[in-house]
Amino acid sequence: MDSIRVRGGGPLMGSIEISGAKNAALPLLAACLLTDGSLTLSRLPRLADIQTLSKLLIQHGVEVKPAASDDGDEAVGGTVTYTAAKITDTTAPYELVRQMRASVLVLGPLLAREHVATVSLPGGCAIGTRPVDLHLKGLQQLGAQIEIEAGYIHAKAPKGLKGGRVTFPHVSVGATENLLMAACLAKGESVIENAAREPEVIDLADCLVRMGARIEGIGSNAITVQGVDRLGPAEHEVVADRIEAGTFAMAAAVTGGEIELIGARTDHLGALTEALAFSGVQFKRTPRGFSVKRSQTELVGVDIKTEPYPGFPTDLQAQFMALMTTAKGASMVTENIFENRFMHVPELARMGADINVHGGTAMVRGVEGLNGAEVMATDLRASVSLVIAGLIASGETTVNRVYHLDRGYERLEEKLAACGADIKRISAKN
Ligand code: EPZ
Repeated sequence: MDSIRVRGGGPLMGSIEISGAKNAALPLLAACLLTDGSLTLSRLPRLADIQTLSKLLIQHGVEVKPAASDDGDEAVGGTVTYTAAKITDTTAPYELVRQMRASVLVLGPLLAREHVATVSLPGGCAIGTRPVDLHLKGLQQLGAQIEIEAGYIHAKAPKGLKGGRVTFPHVSVGATENLLMAACLAKGESVIENAAREPEVIDLADCLVRMGARIEGIGSNAITVQGVDRLGPAEHEVVADRIEAGTFAMAAAVTGGEIELIGARTDHLGALTEALAFSGVQFKRTPRGFSVKRSQTELVGVDIKTEPYPGFPTDLQAQFMALMTTAKGASMVTENIFENRFMHVPELARMGADINVHGGTAMVRGVEGLNGAEVMATDLRASVSLVIAGLIASGETTVNRVYHLDRGYERLEEKLAACGADIKRISAKN
């Protein structure tokens, strides 16, 4: 297993091209199952998770064709056409779903198009049990008959799905996406209440409309869908990855440097820019995106609570905590979305951070500095928080198990090295 070695050093300076969003690309790939036409997606990030879901789509009978003349700049991802002319297999097997939980997003489209789907339960992961009960209850509201047997979801709707009203007891990004896709081909009107409003959900809805779906209330917490008989071909560019942009913004802030994030959108990072402004970091729009640098010499601790969009994103919590470890004063970090998303804490503590966890809240007290150490990644965002800490720690930090990183960050070490970071990947073989 590869690891990443980073030596604490000076300020990061330069610019980074932000890739298409992983968490938009995954539901967009699943959406190709809704039509026998071709769905061409551009600005796809080159990530392990995208490869895994593509493998699953091929298993369903989808033709996956990278653009032959895909001379798109490496930094802005690839263009690929997905054509589900005929779905030959409606089973999503355990060995693929367990590698990438978001594979459960094929459930709604398979059910809507083929009226049957057998999808492995995704199981939990490091950050929590990650149930899919809201996906299943929502699909039952659209007339699906669902049974769980031997670790698989057996879903069917012999006469096709019918429109219905779904009210989520709490916000779920994935459940909203599964229901949104299923409702597009259900007979009649569906209303999804307490829907997720994340930019990635909006991006999916925009693409579905391009495919011929009839959706109102996009971006609100109440989405209305008029079912149609079929969806058609479309082309769609994946929205910029706000989590990647937020991650690099904090890498700039922690090192006291200045980085321009090309292709990023400040309107998708409101909660982060507000918290960072209080801490002493400024964002400035540029013709290509926005730049980030400190507005004062020393950062100060700021409290945050993770919430569904437009609140502070849980996917930026670990990175923010790394930033707060050397800020002046204290920062209270409350994780409200997942039950076990503080696994970066003991690893940051090994680097000298002063953090106390009480249930879903971590109290971070700023220290003078961090010291490099061998640390272990446990999930995608925890991994990158350790890299951020390593950028300012004295000495060398080795982050092990970087396959987590490769799931969500395209060429992370190259992008940071191009801004002056002393960072390199150490392949397990050498
Ligand atoms: C999506 O996961 C993202 N993944 C996650 O990003 C992100 O952290 C999360 O949304 C929250 O923003 C993708 O988009 C592929 P949820 P998802 O359903 O859809 C509970 C990353 O690092 N829940 O909004 O699985 C759930 O356990 C990943 O890129 C149920 O109880 O998240 C959690 O506590 C990590 N029942 C809360 O809801 C359900 O049926 C929010 O989960 C579904 C979810």
